[in-house]
Amino acid sequence: MIIKSISLNNFRCHESFTFDFKKKTSVIVGENGSGKTSILEAIYEAACGKSFRAVDADILKRDMDYYRIELLYLNGEKTIVVYGDDGNGGIKKNFLVGGKKYLRLPKKYRYPIVLFLPDDLHLISSSPTRKREFFDRIVAEFYDTYSTVLNRYEKALKQRNDLLKQCAEYSEEVVSQMIFSWNVMLSKYGTEIREKRKKVVEEINQRLTETYRSIAKNQDEVFVEYKINDGECSESEYLKKLEMSLRRDLILGHTSFGVHRDSYEFLFNGTDANGSASRGEVRSIILALKFIEAQLIFEKNGKKPIVLLDDVFSELDETRQKSLTRNFKDNQVIITSVEVSE
Ligand SMILES: Nc1ncnc2c1ncn2[C@@H]1O[C@H](COP(=O)(O)OP(=O)(O)OP(=O)(O)O)[C@@H](O)[C@H]1O
Ligand SMILES: [Mg+2]
Repeated sequence: MIIKSISLNNFRCHESFTFDFKKKTSVIVGENGSGKTSILEAIYEAACGKSFRAVDADILKRDMDYYRIELLYLNGEKTIVVYGDDGNGGIKKNFLVGGKKYLRLPKKYRYPIVLFLPDDLHLISSSPTRKREFFDRIVAEFYDTYSTVLNRYEKALKQRNDLLKQCAEYSEEVVSQMIFSWNVMLSKYGTEIREKRKKVVEEINQRLTETYRSIAKNQDEVFVEYKINDGECSESEYLKKLEMSLRRDLILGHTSFGVHRDSYEFLFNGTDANGSASRGEVRSIILALKFIEAQLIFEKNGKKPIVLLDDVFSELDETRQKSLTRNFKDNQVIITSVEVSE
């Protein structure tokens, strides 16, 4: 699928804006704050069903009562997103596609995107939360049910944490009974989340060193390690661990064990890449990950993802820019860049 154009109304700073894309590579140039990332955000929302960085209330242009995205594909298909005042004092959001209205973008109208944000270049030294977000997005591309399970896990986790806070003065035995059903849910969803994360990391590792070498042109070895909080365990062991951590959790006021504490580490020639790999090497690793993400998406559903590069192209040296162009030669690529003032 190729994007032909986008039209925006009241989407962040864009009151009324249209952009026509090229089939291959388009470059959106503008000063800081001119609304470049917002255009990518709108493409992402219309293609994938939600923003990659915010909720609708933040996206809606200040003092306006609706926003609208119209994304037109080259084959004539069109997705329209409208969010705003429903006329009765409420808020509504609709996706208009294929002549019908939906509250959520149906799967058959979603289109995969490989998104490359400036922050991704710092992935290797970033927090476990950031790393989980990065990999969770890839896992969700791979497994249709992953986002739902993750969502359910997060809701159950919140309920458990709320209970821990509310029941700090109750006896451990009473809380243990009240919290049981949340423990069961967390161990069920948590085990499933780990299984899927592990499989995707395996897939990535099968290609990572080779892809890295094709960019860096050397013999280094790269490996991603999925670091499981408190070691591997079965679903029943997971449940036991949650039960065992109750006393500690009551003192802390939150759940100290589970997949929300898992992380990822990059090994560069066998040692932690954070600290051992150079800036350029880190960039090659991230590029390799993006290429693999695009490959995995294509192999899974036969769709060539659209590649959105926010402000990163100019951050790469010539060799890596070339490698990017080469690896994404069959994808539509949309690049943003800050205007260089003379
Ligand atoms: N809801 C909103 N209503 C109005 N303006 C907004 C809203 N949300 C963000 N903005 C403004 O929109 C502008 C564009 O933001 P955006 O992140 O798209 O810019 P950018 O061109 O990517 O900038 P940079 O080069 O710094 O990354 C910013 O000035 C921001 O403050
Ligand atoms: Mg930006």
